[in-house]
Amino acid sequence: MTTVRERVIERFRDLYGRSPELVVRAPGRVNLLGAHVDYNEGWVLPGAIDRAIWLAGARGSRPLLRAASLELGSGGAVPLDRVPGPPGEGRAPAGWIDYAAGVAWALAGAGLAVAPLDAVIGSELPAGAGVSSSAALEVAFLLAWREIGGLALDDLAAARLGRRVENEYLGVQSGIMDQFASLHGGRDSVVFLDCRTLEWERLPMPPGVAVLVADSGVRRRLVDGPLNDRRGECVAALEHLREASPELGALRDVTPAMLEAAVTLPDVLRRRVRHVVEECARVRRGADLLRGRCDAGALGELVRDSHRSSRDLYQVSSPELDTLAEAAWSAPGCHGARLVGAGFGGCVAALVDEAAQGEVADAITRAFGARFGREPRFLDCRFGAGAGLA
Ligand code: GLA
Repeated sequence: MTTVRERVIERFRDLYGRSPELVVRAPGRVNLLGAHVDYNEGWVLPGAIDRAIWLAGARGSRPLLRAASLELGSGGAVPLDRVPGPPGEGRAPAGWIDYAAGVAWALAGAGLAVAPLDAVIGSELPAGAGVSSSAALEVAFLLAWREIGGLALDDLAAARLGRRVENEYLGVQSGIMDQFASLHGGRDSVVFLDCRTLEWERLPMPPGVAVLVADSGVRRRLVDGPLNDRRGECVAALEHLREASPELGALRDVTPAMLEAAVTLPDVLRRRVRHVVEECARVRRGADLLRGRCDAGALGELVRDSHRSSRDLYQVSSPELDTLAEAAWSAPGCHGARLVGAGFGGCVAALVDEAAQGEVADAITRAFGARFGREPRFLDCRFGAGAGLA
């Protein structure tokens, strides 16, 4: 069977009549803990996974980006001497190529030269499923342009630009977690990141534990969608809490006592803040456990609590995701499971003993099938290396 890497190279040769100069691999991510806290300047614990977007590329001859996708077909050409502005502002969205156009726009906005580029991409990541295929796509183009143009752009600056593409070009009010994890992941480890200071460290996962990702098949758009609504609620809650505590920088600074004292805070906003406060504590506890070489059981408890809080307090789960998570929780060999990414649809990730992966998947399939009359798809993955030339 040919690999996606081989297929992007082959398609590049067919399309452009020469060999690519480079191949970039940009992985997706699973966030083990830290749901919806990155844009509240909290702490997160994601890892890059060993499934990625691959890009074969070479310098082009005219000031154009020409790009095609193995799965989604031609993206057409983007003029690099006048990169189109954000979709919605006088033009209709152009599909997946907007992610690449957004990267060109962000690079140019940062004063960096955007070299002519011919590219083919191919994906091992389901799109819109919560495993960060969009961040991976942005990172793939960021690294391709960095290499081809010899740009002075370190991985942190690249992650920041990727987030800018989401926030300012595509209109998704996400945080920095996804791009950061795609760039900084390491084999069998997760990244503990402080989203305010951007200090980070890599922490090893307990040995013998795999990550089983179950995909509900439900897709939700994030533009104009619930992620932006939640972000708006967090802004409103922060403004309210600042009336009593003007020094508050972000929801990550809220203490349980402050929350208790805010008696006029509307109930929905109180739930959102409680989730953020408790999730931040869970992430830091999880990092302590991993530093102490914990077993998977203790970590799994936190992962379950994170799902419950995402379901009941932040309210970003769905019947499909709850069914997947609960079926995993009761399967022998599974330590914990939670929804990944923004939620609402997409995937649940379960921490499972390597030897039990098949049985856990069977248990999930039975429970999901009994309720929804169809089967979930599975990605069995490991935490793996961050993005780079490959
Ligand atoms: C999406 C966003 C991230 C993060 C998660 C929720 O994946 O892109 O920045 O906010 O949702 O934790």
